[in-house]
Amino acid sequence: MITCDSSVQHPFQPGAHGLACDGVSIQSIVASVGTPAYIYSARAIRDAYRAIDDAFGSYPHAIHYALKANSTLAIVRVLKALGSHADANSGGEIEVALRAGFGPREIVFTGVGKTGGELEYAIESDVGAINAESAGELDRIAARAQAAGRVARVALRVNPDIDAQSHPNISTGLKSNKFGVALQDARGIYRDRRNEKSLQFVGVHLHIGSQITTAEPLRRAAAALTTLALELRDDGVPLEHVDLGGGLGIAYEGRPMITPAEYAAAVLPELRRANIPVVLEPGRAVVGHSGALMARIVDVKRYPDGRQFAVLDTGMTELMRPALYGSFHRIVPVSPRQTAETPWDVVGPICESSDVFARERPLPDLCVDDLVAILDTGAYGAVMASNYNRRLLAPEVLVDDGQWSVIRRRQTLDDVLALET
Ligand code: LLP
Repeated sequence: MITCDSSVQHPFQPGAHGLACDGVSIQSIVASVGTPAYIYSARAIRDAYRAIDDAFGSYPHAIHYALKANSTLAIVRVLKALGSHADANSGGEIEVALRAGFGPREIVFTGVGKTGGELEYAIESDVGAINAESAGELDRIAARAQAAGRVARVALRVNPDIDAQSHPNISTGLKSNKFGVALQDARGIYRDRRNEKSLQFVGVHLHIGSQITTAEPLRRAAAALTTLALELRDDGVPLEHVDLGGGLGIAYEGRPMITPAEYAAAVLPELRRANIPVVLEPGRAVVGHSGALMARIVDVKRYPDGRQFAVLDTGMTELMRPALYGSFHRIVPVSPRQTAETPWDVVGPICESSDVFARERPLPDLCVDDLVAILDTGAYGAVMASNYNRRLLAPEVLVDDGQWSVIRRRQTLDDVLALET
């Protein structure tokens, strides 16, 4: 039995005919689409979304799914159909959200280095909130809104200097990080700008990091936001919402993990002090468990010291997380194997020593041509892929209600070369 946290039933489970995604045989999908390939469960996305939605219950809340985690159109549409709103981190993600059918007001736009063009696009589109990163960005938004004859809806992103206790590369809420304005400066900025005609301050935003596995940093973040919202209310700047960002972690190792209910239980008492609607921007917690990357073993090597390598037909080009953060993903053979487990280094084909998925991982005997699944890669997997080594983007498949369909075909070399002279 493959597990995740108690709120979602893991979609990938071993069956009599090998690994299946919600009962659909992985072998049969891969026989048609080849490897490497991402396979996702729509059911797991829906369950994970609803677990967060239910956890916040009747408290006024809006879930703005963080598109950066996975913005393949068909996946975004699954979320749209559930009533999700969207968090976009670039002009491209705003456009994807609009094309997927989100109303402009259902989109919040975040990002540490928004270009002039992106700001104009967001203002023209009339997105629900532009989460501004600095006083300077507020100036640039105001100037562009004025030129366009519009009023931009803005929230200031604050940096509360809270340690999310996650991987340093995905922690964003410390004052040593590049994100937002210092919390103590925020009140003054709102006061100074509140009468600007082309700006409407609708909220205040923060995001302290990703893959957060304990409730306390999230509670402290909610406390800081709520206190600021109350102060701003006193100053005569009533806000429509506070935006808590994303960050809820998932159980990559299959061990108990903070659940959406525990997350809500930690932050709601803080939010209730102001009774102000909350915007949430979960990404990983919505799609992380839903996807797995399927790969075939192309070589097996054994060194005299006993070290054994399984070389896959997928690498850091399709899934960058292990190379970038040393992150852990479970790896399971697609066909059942009864042999004893021995330690394996599972690696990719790229000419980089960091192209490693697992070191000394206990696995049964592995053979050339075997299929393996790299689990919990629905978030920050396909979206972070590259064409390094002229490799081609892997196809993506969505399993829904016993059926599967290709939601993104495999890239071809012609697709790639079409951009070149
Ligand atoms: N909101 C903002 C402003 C963000 O920057 C992020 C993620 C999210 C929401 C969604 O966070 P989530 O709920 O997914 O933790 N590539 C890394 C993760 C980078 C996250 C960046 N920001 C990884 O693979 O772990």
